[in-house]
Amino acid sequence: MSIGVCYFPEHWPSERWERDVEQMAEAGIDYVRMAEFSWGRVEPARGEFDFDWLDEAVELVGDHGMEAVLCTPTATPPKWLVDERPGILQADRDGTAREWGSRRFTCFNSPAYREETERVVRAFADRYAADPRVAGWQTDNEFGCHETVRCYCEDCADAFRGWLREKYRTVAALNDAWGTTFWSQQYDSFEAVEPPRPTPAEQHPSRLLDYYRFASDSVAEYNRLHADLLREANDDWFVTHNFMGDFRSLDAHSLSDDLDFLSWDSYPTGFVQDRRQGDPTADELRAGDPDEVGMNHDLYRGAKRKPFWVMEQQPGDVNWPPHAPQPAEGVMRLWAHHAVAHGADAVLYFRWRRCLEGQEQYHAGLRKADGSPDRGYRDATRAADELFDLDPVDAPVAVLHDYENLWATEIQPHSPDWDYWSHLRAYYGAVRRHGVQADLVHPGADLGDYAVVFAPAFHLADDSRAAALRAYVEGGGRVVFGARTGLKDPANKLHDAPAPGPLADLAGATVDQHESLPASLDATVEYGGERYDYRTWAEWLSPDEATAIGTHASGVAEGRPAVTERAVGDGTVTYCGVWPEPPLADALVSDALDAAGVPRTDRLPESVRVAERDGYAWVTNFGSDPVEVSAPAAAEFVVGDESVDGFDVAIVEAPAADLDVS
Ligand code: GAL
Repeated sequence: MSIGVCYFPEHWPSERWERDVEQMAEAGIDYVRMAEFSWGRVEPARGEFDFDWLDEAVELVGDHGMEAVLCTPTATPPKWLVDERPGILQADRDGTAREWGSRRFTCFNSPAYREETERVVRAFADRYAADPRVAGWQTDNEFGCHETVRCYCEDCADAFRGWLREKYRTVAALNDAWGTTFWSQQYDSFEAVEPPRPTPAEQHPSRLLDYYRFASDSVAEYNRLHADLLREANDDWFVTHNFMGDFRSLDAHSLSDDLDFLSWDSYPTGFVQDRRQGDPTADELRAGDPDEVGMNHDLYRGAKRKPFWVMEQQPGDVNWPPHAPQPAEGVMRLWAHHAVAHGADAVLYFRWRRCLEGQEQYHAGLRKADGSPDRGYRDATRAADELFDLDPVDAPVAVLHDYENLWATEIQPHSPDWDYWSHLRAYYGAVRRHGVQADLVHPGADLGDYAVVFAPAFHLADDSRAAALRAYVEGGGRVVFGARTGLKDPANKLHDAPAPGPLADLAGATVDQHESLPASLDATVEYGGERYDYRTWAEWLSPDEATAIGTHASGVAEGRPAVTERAVGDGTVTYCGVWPEPPLADALVSDALDAAGVPRTDRLPESVRVAERDGYAWVTNFGSDPVEVSAPAAAEFVVGDESVDGFDVAIVEAPAADLDVS
């Protein structure tokens, strides 16, 4: 397991580099990521490349026993290039060009930008092709950051038409798939189709969904261009990309075939403020939400079912959330352990030193602006000292995650409170509150190895998805469907059969009515003899082959089935027609785990999570209150001991399910 750092030598006088690199080596750092936004420094004028400074930095890194990870520099093209070829700029929905002056303003579909990308990536790749100190590459930086997956320029309009032609072949097929008779939205040719630019009422949902797919595919294609060029230069390099947390517009699964492993950028105290429902607690403002972070770890691990990297780990206070409280003492170390417990093989802190200039002056580094060690440096050093090599995570449970379901439900949320990530986290959180590891996987993945599969909001369903799930269940699997399943077809149109459409036969039940509920209406169900709250979404179920195991206990739905279950072949299918609040999710999930024979802990304390990897269990405490761990007598603690302080961690050689934490 490795610790690393993101370094921008070009921000500092070269006389300083050797000392910086020495201090990295002293901290136990293995990887130094560089060159991320360096296009302007490497190519100050067209064709005049200056790699000398980067050569020197790579050499220093190698001389100190570390390896360099380089980045293709395409997120920040230089001014001369934009002046020469202004057509490479993205356009907002209203056609306004996104100007040079920050980053990520170029269009993924611009033929000119692809040409320039090819030129610069080739120059970087050729320069380092034979350099043993370069371990691998990050393509670009955070594709889609700052809402940039979807562009509305003329190049995108052309590319969208080509994408539609390829998909539908004839415009009649497109009209039919989308259902364009509604509001006279028929097309008479592919040329007539435009990107969904502003219009008074909401856009056609099928057109939007295809635009979202197209935009995400465009990024995947652009990433492939980088990956192919890099591999052409040196096939031994790894190629990865640094994805983002709780991200909505880029389908990470679709890039995974082109990458050796996935990595992502983790900023826990920012995420609880800017991309999660609900106000953060005091502890969350200091350490983040373990399940929000963990779910992203498990997504980027699950996409390839392989260890991932945290390419950027929050190093201290950061500049972009609304508030920037200092993380609690020791939390930068806790995050590294938490990532490793979830299957990371490397954690790289962003950035080495607080930068004196530019947009991110209010962002901490491992070192302070004057170069002295900051809180993050001490935490990273400690983590580097404690980490050891491990086999990958072997998760017994899968949670199906599909950006297309996210997009479709986001296009027609039917409630201001609907949020795909939060709804998934209702089930995921319950799995994690019982100390069980879960892979977030695409519905097309092979599910055969999982004892339980949770499929919340499995919204777009067709016969092939239904057949794959049926085969899994008949072979002894257990599926738990969540609300909003099987309502629509892949074109984002309702099925003419009642929900869950093609999955109704498998579930043995259909949805009679659905409703979305504001918090002011009672929302309760009875399950296993107890009364529980749910939120936001309710379905009244009509079981045929299935049995009702939960019943609505409030509102117009009172007395109607809310949760059903049935045996199919050697397996079982549960359908939960409400968005469960945590106590109901805990009951449903622990019943499913027990029935499938998945060992689990009792419900863990709110801020504490236990995760098992390679025979070790990590107890990570994201709260300020200390906890006590009771482990089997013979189990050895390799980090910490039975008493885990607030924001601290312990690692014990024992199965996670054998621990008791209170
Ligand atoms: C990331 C980005 C970095 C830096 C960082 C600041 O999203 O990849 O370049 O901007 O945020 O927290």
